[in-house]
Amino acid sequence: MCGIVGILGTEAVAGDLVEALKRLEYRGYDSAGIATIEGGKLDRRRAEGKLKNLALRLSNQPLQGRTGIGHTRWATHGKPVERNAHPHMNDKVAVVHNGIIENFRELRGELTKKGYAFETETDTETVLHLVTDNLKQGLKPVEAAHKALSRLRGAYALGIIFAADDDLMIAARQGPPLAIGHGEGVTYLGSDAIALAPFTSKITYLEDGDWAVLRRSGAEIFDLAGKPITRPTIVSTASSLTVDKGGYRHFMLKEIHQQPEVISHTIANYLDLAAGTVEFPDLGIDLKTLSRVTISACGTASYAGLVGKYWLERYARLPVDIDVASEYRYREAPLPENGLALFISQSGETADTMAALRYCKDGGQRIAAIVNVRTSTMARESHVVLPTLAGPEIGVASTKAFTCQLSVLACFAIAAGKARGHIGPEKERELVQALTQVPRLMSDILRDEKPYEHLGHRLTKARDVLYLGRGISFPIALEGALKLKELSYIHAEGYAAGELKHGPIALIEEGVPVIVVAPHDELFEKTVSNMQEVAARGGDIIFVSDAEDGAAGCKVIEHLHLPKAHPFTHPLMASIPVQLISYHTAVQMGTDVDQPRNLAKSVTVE
Ligand code: G6P
Repeated sequence: MCGIVGILGTEAVAGDLVEALKRLEYRGYDSAGIATIEGGKLDRRRAEGKLKNLALRLSNQPLQGRTGIGHTRWATHGKPVERNAHPHMNDKVAVVHNGIIENFRELRGELTKKGYAFETETDTETVLHLVTDNLKQGLKPVEAAHKALSRLRGAYALGIIFAADDDLMIAARQGPPLAIGHGEGVTYLGSDAIALAPFTSKITYLEDGDWAVLRRSGAEIFDLAGKPITRPTIVSTASSLTVDKGGYRHFMLKEIHQQPEVISHTIANYLDLAAGTVEFPDLGIDLKTLSRVTISACGTASYAGLVGKYWLERYARLPVDIDVASEYRYREAPLPENGLALFISQSGETADTMAALRYCKDGGQRIAAIVNVRTSTMARESHVVLPTLAGPEIGVASTKAFTCQLSVLACFAIAAGKARGHIGPEKERELVQALTQVPRLMSDILRDEKPYEHLGHRLTKARDVLYLGRGISFPIALEGALKLKELSYIHAEGYAAGELKHGPIALIEEGVPVIVVAPHDELFEKTVSNMQEVAARGGDIIFVSDAEDGAAGCKVIEHLHLPKAHPFTHPLMASIPVQLISYHTAVQMGTDVDQPRNLAKSVTVE
């Protein structure tokens, strides 16, 4: 996490640095800072909290340098206070960093012995002192930086500038993404192309192990051994328009309401709507003989994967091994010969998912990635990219990216079922038809938010909230609990309804809210029995269901009605109520809906 920018410009760059940082705030928002070189001297401004605090500080105390670096932070080492905010600098060098220097303790000990006084608790400060020490030994700035890189273990994206040379910036990548932007006599550095979109569309992505010498006239890229290497320059399609809230109170609410539209775009990419057939890209693997799919992802994306497992196993009879990427990457899971591994990620940059992808790639698997950012590292390292067409998602808690991931997985399940002989032409038409109705039915749910406002008010008083779901609704229960937790900071847990009596039932007492996601399918009666057990112990049941005659006699405090839809599409439909419940609870709690505390949209550290 953390966002990095750098500009070697022709006039004062502070304004453009802040502009670029605004576009990177999704990576972290604990604190922010910029440093520029003016008259051979480095100077910086930093501020705790959101970027607007830094902008305010800069308007009172402007910086005029034409060369500068900037940073928006998501704290790993050291509290999110101004002292720990980047850039870290002395009179010679300034550094911004994204990632974790894993051997920082060892380096810190070594540098302290040499007499360097550490002012912060950050791992990044070791980079500053390493480079400075190399300068003191008589090395030129470029060599000083290169030598310092060889001492670092862990993950980093770095931007380094030197007081002595205002036509120089060093960039280095080992893990987190980094892009060089090429302008007319101006060179840029950014954590992604989106940050640089207002200035240039000509982008060169650094690969892992690359480092680069940036000057106004251009950039030279090297490998860790110092051998020059060439990386392609591409024309990025990242939009320079800043996404606005479009009249909604929060980005999250806008993104919830965009779902009917972006799901239409996404399914249209994988279906032939006129013919009522699936048109899935060739994955370069024989789906008919495929023995297993491995799915790995983090957070909300992992719950999309879990829904995918239910779909693929049921409709395509295709076994799925799924795990969160932070576990999967270290599990040393045996991989089948000619297997398919599928990774799901909004950003395409999540460090654990990337590591799981590389493990499977090294293990000879065919790699497919469902990603929202097409220029992301995951997209570039996969054999096949399956894009979600959700558009930029700004709210930190994922909503429209999640349902677009579900849409791609649903299309994949139909394609796999067809290829494996489990879905005939009639069934294919039925399932495709069901998917095409989702956007309209979702719009129906979104038309009336009153019940959710009402419920949100009630939930603000809760200490614990349970979410229950059975079968394919279980991952939606998990997602509902995650959303409520991250947005409203109320403790919430999602459980498989059948597990209730193996533990969570002990939490039920008078008035504990229990949100039950229960489509009117073949498992409905069983879920209703679990609800009865909750009701008998005084729990307040909130019933999310398309069942027309209520909860089969069970007393509920609120029935959030879902329109009648094909059971295949139920996870898509039920996603909307769980999103709206957490949104309205958070609004009533007064939390920061779009940027909840301690979270970041793109998690590029382990
Ligand atoms: C963070 C975000 C979540 C997201 C997860 C995975 O935790 O806050 O909303 O689901 O990362 O991110 P990815 O970009 O890989 O989907």
